[in-house]
Amino acid sequence: MRDYWNKRFAEEGMIWGCEPSQTVTQAIDLFKKNNAHNILVPGAGYGRNTKMFSSYFEVDGIEISSSAINLAKEWDLKTNFIQESVLEFRISKRYDGIYCYDLLHLFLLEDRKKLIQNCVMHLKEQGVMYFTCFSDRDFNNGVGRNVEEGTYEYKKGKYAHFFTEENLIEHFNDLNILEMGSIRECLTHTEKQQEYELRYVVVQNIG
Ligand SMILES: C[S@@+](CC[C@H](N)C(=O)[O-])C[C@H]1O[C@@H](n2cnc3c(N)ncnc32)[C@H](O)[C@@H]1O
Repeated sequence: MRDYWNKRFAEEGMIWGCEPSQTVTQAIDLFKKNNAHNILVPGAGYGRNTKMFSSYFEVDGIEISSSAINLAKEWDLKTNFIQESVLEFRISKRYDGIYCYDLLHLFLLEDRKKLIQNCVMHLKEQGVMYFTCFSDRDFNNGVGRNVEEGTYEYKKGKYAHFFTEENLIEHFNDLNILEMGSIRECLTHTEKQQEYELRYVVVQNIG
Protein backbone atom coordinates (compact mmCIF):
# COMPACT_ATOMS: atom_id res chain seq x y z
CA MET A 1 0.00 0.00 0.00
CA ARG A 2 2.73 2.47 1.03
CA ASP A 3 4.83 1.91 -2.12
CA TYR A 4 1.79 2.23 -4.38
CA TRP A 5 0.75 5.59 -2.87
CA ASN A 6 4.32 6.93 -2.68
CA LYS A 7 4.76 6.23 -6.38
CA ARG A 8 1.43 7.81 -7.30
CA PHE A 9 2.00 11.02 -5.31
CA ALA A 10 5.61 11.29 -6.52
CA GLU A 11 4.55 10.92 -10.16
CA GLU A 12 1.16 12.68 -10.18
CA GLY A 13 1.53 15.29 -7.41
CA MET A 14 -1.82 16.71 -6.27
CA ILE A 15 -3.76 13.87 -7.91
CA TRP A 16 -7.28 15.18 -7.22
CA GLY A 17 -6.52 18.90 -7.56
CA CYS A 18 -6.52 21.39 -4.71
CA GLU A 19 -10.27 21.82 -4.14
CA PRO A 20 -11.60 20.07 -1.02
CA SER A 21 -14.40 17.53 -1.20
CA GLN A 22 -17.93 18.98 -1.13
CA THR A 23 -18.43 16.98 2.10
CA VAL A 24 -15.92 19.14 4.02
CA THR A 25 -18.41 22.01 4.43
CA GLN A 26 -20.99 19.64 5.92
CA ALA A 27 -18.36 18.12 8.22
CA ILE A 28 -17.23 21.59 9.40
CA ASP A 29 -20.85 22.49 10.29
CA LEU A 30 -21.17 19.20 12.17
CA PHE A 31 -17.93 19.70 14.11
CA LYS A 32 -18.80 23.33 14.96
CA LYS A 33 -22.27 22.29 16.15
CA ASN A 34 -20.55 19.74 18.39
CA ASN A 35 -18.16 22.42 19.77
CA ALA A 36 -15.14 20.57 18.40
CA HIS A 37 -11.64 21.97 18.94
CA ASN A 38 -9.41 19.23 17.60
CA ILE A 39 -9.91 17.02 14.53
CA LEU A 40 -8.15 13.90 13.25
CA VAL A 41 -7.98 13.19 9.51
CA PRO A 42 -6.87 9.59 8.74
CA GLY A 43 -5.58 9.09 5.17
CA ALA A 44 -5.03 12.84 4.83
CA GLY A 45 -3.23 12.61 1.46
CA TYR A 46 -1.58 15.89 0.42
CA GLY A 47 -3.88 18.02 2.58
CA ARG A 48 -6.62 18.86 0.05
CA ASN A 49 -9.27 18.56 2.79
CA THR A 50 -7.22 19.28 5.94
CA LYS A 51 -6.41 22.80 4.68
CA MET A 52 -10.04 23.83 5.08
CA PHE A 53 -10.44 22.18 8.50
CA SER A 54 -7.25 23.79 9.79
CA SER A 55 -8.72 27.28 9.29
CA TYR A 56 -11.23 26.43 12.04
CA PHE A 57 -9.79 23.63 14.18
CA GLU A 58 -6.53 22.17 15.47
CA VAL A 59 -5.90 19.32 12.99
CA ASP A 60 -3.73 16.18 12.97
CA GLY A 61 -3.48 14.25 9.69
CA ILE A 62 -2.35 10.62 9.54
CA GLU A 63 -0.90 9.54 6.22
CA ILE A 64 1.11 6.48 5.17
CA SER A 65 2.84 8.07 2.19
CA SER A 66 5.91 10.26 2.75
CA SER A 67 5.57 11.80 -0.71
CA ALA A 68 1.99 12.86 0.10
CA ILE A 69 3.20 14.37 3.39
CA ASN A 70 5.94 16.33 1.59
CA LEU A 71 3.26 17.90 -0.63
CA ALA A 72 0.89 18.39 2.32
CA LYS A 73 3.44 20.28 4.40
CA GLU A 74 3.75 22.86 1.61
CA TRP A 75 0.01 23.09 0.94
CA ASP A 76 -1.40 23.20 4.47
CA LEU A 77 0.95 24.88 6.92
CA LYS A 78 -1.38 24.64 9.91
CA THR A 79 -2.08 20.88 10.06
CA ASN A 80 0.26 18.56 11.93
CA PHE A 81 0.96 15.61 9.57
CA ILE A 82 2.03 12.27 11.07
CA GLN A 83 3.52 9.55 8.86
CA GLU A 84 2.00 6.32 10.09
CA SER A 85 -0.49 3.64 9.09
CA VAL A 86 -4.00 4.29 10.39
CA LEU A 87 -4.09 0.60 11.35
CA GLU A 88 -1.05 0.94 13.65
CA PHE A 89 -1.49 4.51 14.89
CA ARG A 90 -1.64 4.77 18.72
CA ILE A 91 -1.40 7.96 20.75
CA SER A 92 -2.90 9.01 24.06
CA LYS A 93 -4.57 12.09 22.51
CA ARG A 94 -8.35 11.99 21.95
CA TYR A 95 -10.22 14.02 19.33
CA ASP A 96 -13.56 15.84 19.25
CA GLY A 97 -14.06 14.93 15.59
CA ILE A 98 -12.68 12.56 12.93
CA TYR A 99 -13.07 13.07 9.18
CA CYS A 100 -12.12 10.15 6.95
CA TYR A 101 -12.56 10.61 3.22
CA ASP A 102 -12.42 7.63 0.84
CA LEU A 103 -10.04 5.50 2.89
CA LEU A 104 -12.34 2.86 4.38
CA HIS A 105 -13.15 1.15 1.07
CA LEU A 106 -9.45 0.45 0.36
CA PHE A 107 -9.28 -2.36 2.94
CA LEU A 108 -10.49 -5.93 3.33
CA LEU A 109 -13.09 -6.59 6.05
CA GLU A 110 -10.71 -7.28 8.97
CA ASP A 111 -8.77 -4.08 8.30
CA ARG A 112 -11.93 -2.03 7.77
CA LYS A 113 -13.03 -3.12 11.26
CA LYS A 114 -9.55 -2.33 12.62
CA LEU A 115 -9.62 1.16 11.07
CA ILE A 116 -13.02 1.97 12.58
CA GLN A 117 -12.01 0.55 16.00
CA ASN A 118 -8.80 2.54 15.98
CA CYS A 119 -10.67 5.74 15.12
CA VAL A 120 -13.15 5.10 17.95
CA MET A 121 -10.21 4.56 20.34
CA HIS A 122 -8.99 8.07 19.49
CA LEU A 123 -12.41 9.72 19.74
CA LYS A 124 -13.65 11.48 22.87
CA GLU A 125 -16.94 10.44 24.42
CA GLN A 126 -19.72 12.26 22.51
CA GLY A 127 -17.18 12.94 19.73
CA VAL A 128 -18.40 12.68 16.13
CA MET A 129 -16.99 11.02 13.00
CA TYR A 130 -17.71 11.69 9.33
CA PHE A 131 -16.73 8.88 6.92
CA THR A 132 -17.13 8.62 3.15
CA CYS A 133 -16.69 5.48 1.02
CA PHE A 134 -17.55 3.97 -2.38
CA SER A 135 -21.22 3.17 -2.92
CA ASP A 136 -22.42 -0.06 -4.55
CA ARG A 137 -23.89 2.27 -7.19
CA ASP A 138 -20.44 3.39 -8.31
CA PHE A 139 -19.51 2.76 -11.93
CA ASN A 140 -16.49 0.64 -10.95
CA ASN A 141 -18.40 -1.79 -8.74
CA GLY A 142 -17.66 -5.29 -10.01
CA VAL A 143 -14.40 -4.45 -11.80
CA GLY A 144 -11.61 -6.97 -11.02
CA ARG A 145 -11.48 -10.20 -9.03
CA ASN A 146 -14.14 -10.71 -6.36
CA VAL A 147 -12.19 -11.43 -3.14
CA GLU A 148 -14.85 -10.88 -0.45
CA GLU A 149 -18.51 -9.95 -0.53
CA GLY A 150 -18.68 -6.53 -2.22
CA THR A 151 -14.87 -6.29 -2.52
CA TYR A 152 -12.81 -6.46 -5.72
CA GLU A 153 -9.08 -6.65 -6.37
CA TYR A 154 -8.90 -4.22 -9.29
CA LYS A 155 -5.06 -4.20 -9.47
CA LYS A 156 -2.64 -6.65 -7.85
CA GLY A 157 -2.91 -6.10 -4.06
CA LYS A 158 -5.30 -3.13 -4.46
CA TYR A 159 -8.84 -3.53 -3.21
CA ALA A 160 -12.06 -1.56 -3.48
CA HIS A 161 -15.08 -2.34 -1.33
CA PHE A 162 -18.49 -1.08 -2.47
CA PHE A 163 -20.95 -0.36 0.34
CA THR A 164 -24.68 -0.90 0.29
CA GLU A 165 -26.59 1.13 2.88
CA GLU A 166 -27.14 -1.99 5.06
CA ASN A 167 -23.48 -2.91 4.85
CA LEU A 168 -22.42 0.59 5.95
CA ILE A 169 -24.82 0.39 8.91
CA GLU A 170 -23.27 -3.00 9.89
CA HIS A 171 -19.79 -1.44 9.95
CA PHE A 172 -20.87 1.33 12.37
CA ASN A 173 -23.36 -0.67 14.42
CA ASP A 174 -21.61 -0.03 17.76
CA LEU A 175 -21.98 3.73 17.38
CA ASN A 176 -24.92 6.08 17.28
CA ILE A 177 -25.62 6.70 13.58
CA LEU A 178 -26.77 10.34 13.26
CA GLU A 179 -27.05 10.59 9.48
CA MET A 180 -26.32 8.70 6.26
CA GLY A 181 -26.61 9.65 2.64
CA SER A 182 -25.34 9.40 -0.93
CA ILE A 183 -23.40 11.91 -2.98
CA ARG A 184 -21.90 12.11 -6.45
CA GLU A 185 -18.37 13.52 -6.33
CA CYS A 186 -16.64 14.78 -9.44
CA LEU A 187 -12.85 14.75 -9.10
CA THR A 188 -10.40 16.19 -11.59
CA HIS A 189 -7.52 13.79 -12.12
CA THR A 190 -4.35 15.07 -13.75
CA GLU A 191 -6.12 15.48 -17.11
CA LYS A 192 -9.57 13.96 -16.94
CA GLN A 193 -12.66 14.34 -14.77
CA GLN A 194 -14.13 11.31 -13.06
CA GLU A 195 -17.42 10.88 -11.23
CA TYR A 196 -17.74 8.72 -8.11
CA GLU A 197 -20.87 7.53 -6.33
CA LEU A 198 -20.15 7.73 -2.61
CA ARG A 199 -21.94 7.12 0.66
CA TYR A 200 -21.33 9.06 3.84
CA VAL A 201 -22.11 8.29 7.45
CA VAL A 202 -22.07 10.54 10.51
CA VAL A 203 -21.72 8.78 13.86
CA GLN A 204 -21.36 9.73 17.51
CA ASN A 205 -19.40 7.94 20.21
CA ILE A 206 -21.89 7.14 22.90
CA GLY A 207 -19.19 5.60 25.12
C1 LIG B 1 -8.14 7.72 -1.97
S1 LIG B 1 -6.84 8.57 -1.16
C2 LIG B 1 -7.71 9.91 -0.38
C3 LIG B 1 -6.78 11.03 0.08
C4 LIG B 1 -7.47 12.20 0.77
N1 LIG B 1 -8.39 11.75 1.79
C5 LIG B 1 -8.14 13.10 -0.23
O1 LIG B 1 -9.35 13.05 -0.36
O2 LIG B 1 -7.45 13.89 -0.91
C6 LIG B 1 -6.42 7.51 0.19
C7 LIG B 1 -5.27 8.05 1.02
O3 LIG B 1 -5.06 7.20 2.14
C8 LIG B 1 -3.67 6.95 2.29
N2 LIG B 1 -3.53 5.63 2.93
C9 LIG B 1 -3.73 4.41 2.38
N3 LIG B 1 -3.55 3.44 3.30
C10 LIG B 1 -3.24 4.07 4.45
C11 LIG B 1 -2.93 3.61 5.76
N4 LIG B 1 -2.90 2.29 6.06
N5 LIG B 1 -2.64 4.53 6.71
C12 LIG B 1 -2.65 5.87 6.43
N6 LIG B 1 -2.94 6.36 5.20
C13 LIG B 1 -3.23 5.48 4.22
C14 LIG B 1 -3.11 7.01 0.88
O4 LIG B 1 -1.73 7.25 0.88
C15 LIG B 1 -3.95 8.15 0.29
O5 LIG B 1 -3.36 9.40 0.58
